[in-house]
Amino acid sequence: MVDSLKKPEFQEIRPGVKSPAKDTILTPRFYTTDFDEMAAMDISVNEDELLAILEEFRADYNRHHFVRSDVFDKSWDSISGETRQMFVEFLERSCTAEFSGFLLYKELGRRLKGKNPVLAECFELMSRDEARHAGFLNKAMSDFNLQLDLGFLTKSKDYTFFKPKFIFYATYLSEKIGYWRYITIFRHLESHPENEIYPIFRFFENWCQDENRHGDFFSALMKAQPEILNDWKAKLWCRFFLLSVFATMYLNDLQRSGFYASLGLNARDYDIEVIEKTNETAGRVFPVTLNVNHPSFFKRLDVAAAANDKLAKVSASNQPKPVQLLQKLPHIATIGWQLVQLYFLKPIDTIAVRGQVR
Ligand SMILES: [Fe+2]
Ligand SMILES: [Fe+2]
Repeated sequence: MVDSLKKPEFQEIRPGVKSPAKDTILTPRFYTTDFDEMAAMDISVNEDELLAILEEFRADYNRHHFVRSDVFDKSWDSISGETRQMFVEFLERSCTAEFSGFLLYKELGRRLKGKNPVLAECFELMSRDEARHAGFLNKAMSDFNLQLDLGFLTKSKDYTFFKPKFIFYATYLSEKIGYWRYITIFRHLESHPENEIYPIFRFFENWCQDENRHGDFFSALMKAQPEILNDWKAKLWCRFFLLSVFATMYLNDLQRSGFYASLGLNARDYDIEVIEKTNETAGRVFPVTLNVNHPSFFKRLDVAAAANDKLAKVSASNQPKPVQLLQKLPHIATIGWQLVQLYFLKPIDTIAVRGQVR
C-alpha cells in the first residue's frame, strides 16, 4: 500500500514505455495541412524579415544547450506519490506537444523543399529545435523510469487537418504561449531556488528563446499574407484561436494545480500572467486581442474550470458510460455557455491601439 502510494502505477505498452495519455479535447494534438497551398504561398511582401529569421535559425544558438549534465545523475525517487505522478504527466504532455511541432515542421520542410526554399529551410530548422526539446523531455521521463515511444505515437495518434491560415494562427499562439510558460516558470524558480525540485527547469531560459523565434517566424509569415490578418473573418478567427488556446491551458492547469504547487506556484496566478502576456504579445500581429482585463473574463474561466473538475470526477467514477454521459451534459453545457459568452465579450482592436502608439 505504502509502496503504491510512493510510486504511482502507469499503464505501459512495454516495460518502461508509458502508454500515451488518452486523447481528449484538452490533450495536445497532432496536425496536418494542405501542403500544396503552403508551397504555393507568395512570401515576397515580407521576405526580408523571413530571411532575417532564417539567419537566426541557421545560427543555431542552442546547439550546445540541450546536454544532460551531471545535475541529472542522481535518483529522483525523492519525488514520490502524487507529485511524481503529476511530474510524469507534465513531462509527457510537454514532450507530446513538442513532438507534435516536430512532426508538422518536419513534414512541411520535406514537402516544401524545392518549391518554397525559404519556408522549407525555416520549417526544417524549427523541426531540429522541436526534436531537441521533445528528446530532452523524453530523456527526463527516463529519470522516472518511463519513456514515450515517439514512433508509436506518430502512428497511433489522430491528426487534425487545418488549412494553412489556421495552422498559422494556432502555431503562432502555441509558440508564444510556450515561450511565456517556460520563461515564467524559469523566472519564478530563479527567485525561489528552494522550489526547484528537478533541474529541467533551469534549461528553460535558452529553450524558450527557441519558442520565441518560432513564434516570430509565424508572425512574419502571417504578415506576408496580409489578407489573413486584416478582414472581418480574420478578427473572428483570431478571437476564436485566442480563446481556445487560453481556455484549454486554463482548464488543464487548474486541474493540475498540484503540479504548480510543487514548484511553489499558484496555478491560477501563473495562468493569468501567461494569458495576459501572450494576449499582449499577440496584439503585435493579430488585428484583435481578448479583453482579459474585463472583470468577467477570469470569473467565467473559473466557472468553466469548476465544471471541468466535475467532468473529471464523473469520468473517474465507476458508473456505466451512458449514465456518465447524462451526468456530464450539464457540465459540458456550463463550459460551452461560459466560452460562448467569453467569445462575444467585446475584443480589443489592436490596429487602432497600434495606430495611437504611433
Ligand atoms: Fe519547442
Ligand atoms: Fe517551438
